[in-house]
Amino acid sequence: MKRKLITSCLAVAVILSCLSGCTPSISPNLRDLNDTSNPIDSLSIKRGINLSLLERENLSIFGSFITKEKTYLDIKEQGFDHIRLPVNFHLYYKNGKLNGSFMKKLDSIINTALNCGLTVVLDFHGWYDINSDVNSNKREFYEIWTLVSEHYKDYSYNLLFEILNEPYEEEGPDPLNAYKLNEIQLEAIKIIRETNPKRIIVAASPEWNTWWGLKDLILPEDDPNIIVDIHTYQPMEFTHQGALWYSPDATVQVRLDDSVFTEINKVIKTCKEYMGKTGRLLWLGEFGMELTLADEGDVSKYLGYVASESEKIGMPWAYWEYNRSFGAYDPSEKEWRPYVLDALMGE
Ligand code: GLC
Repeated sequence: MKRKLITSCLAVAVILSCLSGCTPSISPNLRDLNDTSNPIDSLSIKRGINLSLLERENLSIFGSFITKEKTYLDIKEQGFDHIRLPVNFHLYYKNGKLNGSFMKKLDSIINTALNCGLTVVLDFHGWYDINSDVNSNKREFYEIWTLVSEHYKDYSYNLLFEILNEPYEEEGPDPLNAYKLNEIQLEAIKIIRETNPKRIIVAASPEWNTWWGLKDLILPEDDPNIIVDIHTYQPMEFTHQGALWYSPDATVQVRLDDSVFTEINKVIKTCKEYMGKTGRLLWLGEFGMELTLADEGDVSKYLGYVASESEKIGMPWAYWEYNRSFGAYDPSEKEWRPYVLDALMGE
């Protein structure tokens, strides 16, 4: 009864306030249903950062920072305008449904980031099974995208969908080569477009989101609201020095030399040509380096160079990542690492 009374009072209040001249407000997180423009025309991203925690399986390791408004306000204040949220959706999918409590948590993270004025790229990350066996996994892949698309269809266009992180061809029954990637990516685009006709979709470049995979990428020509994610970590010996999963025995520092710059110049040249030829925006959705062993001065020079060269050709970037081993933010000191952040921001 009490709840009924409160509901009626609220309804009266809303009617009265509208009669007094207000236009019904649109939540910042919902898209304007009357907006007929193409979201790509108002996409405004330049500098972003990956919040990589969600790529993990266990919900309890999230850590409270990921849900806190102050995390996103701080990210924004440092000069980032977007975040990338890598999510292992397949871990939260069972019997045709996405885990409800996980989705609530994800909603709240996305809402908080959007409310803080950040654009959010929701990235389907870390599904390794599909790399060796497309045929056995594609149905699940399509089902997940059907559910995610339906779930977020009314969200603001500041939420972007990224189809699949770092697809690559792995030996197995049905490897995800460029041909297969085109097939499942085009199908996923069709699925997303049923409920989200205009939301910006981020497609993957074949072979680990690489610049050399771009030549094999096929996208629908009549859909302007698609951008492409590429990553660069080459040379791995430099960017992944000290990463135990990459080279468990490495204890010797690898210094920055000309070969690193040559590599970046190649990436930038190819990206510039691709954007010129296709008119499609490329986004450098991941680059960065493991910090444990590297020389701080080298880190600054490397990151500063990648970020500034990307900006010169109009390619937005997102640093990998926020607060783990590549972290721009140091969670134990509770402060940003100046030799990373300043380099990224060109200071
Ligand atoms: C990829 C991987 C991620 C890794 C990063 C840097 O995005 O999915 O787990 O930390 O690259 O190597």
